[in-house]
Amino acid sequence: MHSEKSAVAERDRRGEPGVGDRVLEIRGLGKVYAGGERALEGVDLDIRRGEIFALLGPNGAGKTTLISIVCGIVTASEGTVSVDGLDTVRDYRRIRPRIGLVPQELHTDAFESVWATVSFSRGLFGLRRDDRHIEKVLRDLSLWDKRKERIMHLSGGMKRRVLIAKALAHEPEILFLDEPTAGVDVELRRDMWELVRGLRTGGVTVILTTHYIAEAEEMADRIGVISRGRLILVEEKRELIKKLGKKQLRVELQEPLEALPAELGDLQVALLSEGHELELTFDANDERTGIPTLLRRLGELGIHYRDLSTRQSSLEEIFVSLVSERTEPRGAEAAP
Ligand SMILES: Nc1ncnc2c1ncn2[C@@H]1O[C@H](COP(=O)(O)OP(=O)(O)OP(=O)(O)O)[C@@H](O)[C@H]1O
Ligand SMILES: [Mg+2]
Repeated sequence: MHSEKSAVAERDRRGEPGVGDRVLEIRGLGKVYAGGERALEGVDLDIRRGEIFALLGPNGAGKTTLISIVCGIVTASEGTVSVDGLDTVRDYRRIRPRIGLVPQELHTDAFESVWATVSFSRGLFGLRRDDRHIEKVLRDLSLWDKRKERIMHLSGGMKRRVLIAKALAHEPEILFLDEPTAGVDVELRRDMWELVRGLRTGGVTVILTTHYIAEAEEMADRIGVISRGRLILVEEKRELIKKLGKKQLRVELQEPLEALPAELGDLQVALLSEGHELELTFDANDERTGIPTLLRRLGELGIHYRDLSTRQSSLEEIFVSLVSERTEPRGAEAAP
């Protein structure tokens, strides 16, 4: 698996992504619901085979709509989607078996047993019964002990696991997880992350939506940010953090200051902690960080400090600033 991934990385570095590496292609996708509500506009996106892609966006951004179109539950108003080069509308019957979907809403067959519902799900795709596969899926999801339970007797978190088991019953090559960890406890969230990583190792492409920035940060190879129906950014997770990341230098002062000295007014400095700390914000990629200037001026002003530390913006801060920039454009805040 590793060598395969590095082969992809190698091709990407050379800037020649082979067509075979793209499992999903979305072009000019738009959706206007019957009521006139525009949920998606001009979405272009390629998903690479074997990656974990996180679609990150606030409520109502269009995440579920996007996934639902790809899975053939909602029809697009504009644009095309293809899986393995096959059009999802024209070749729906050939494509659907390759896709697994774990929907956002919890609805399961309440009276059925876990085993029956998961096993039946496989049959829906016309696949031969395979008890060994179903057993593996249930064991991977820690559902094996519950296989005879009726679903209505399970907790919410367990029901969510059943939905994942159902989506995996027919061995899909692409798995969509719509808010897989909404409303689940920390332990189950960790289990799910573990499971998703295991799926990728097995060659499954995973596309998940989430509100949880920490989840995208923890799980994803690439992140797409969606806001008001538009995909406003798609980036390697590492690049995203590096590229947009501002850094902060904290200067812990020996004596608190009453106010920010006028001599520091031209730097991006704030006085914090009731005057005990100065914080300089700078671009991590900028050659001129402002650090030497700040330290020199502190020396000239006779301001002594006892400690220095730096910190990188989290993905959360990046995300919040991206989404709010789009909704209420304000140029002033972004440093050149
Ligand atoms: N069936 C529908 N009919 C009309 N409008 C809809 C329908 N489904 C969604 N919408 C609207 O489309 C927009 C996008 O909704 P969508 O469910 O795709 O967002 P989302 O990103 O999944 O949100 P959430 O994080 O809350 O799940 C919203 O404005 C929503 O009100
Ligand atoms: Mg949704």
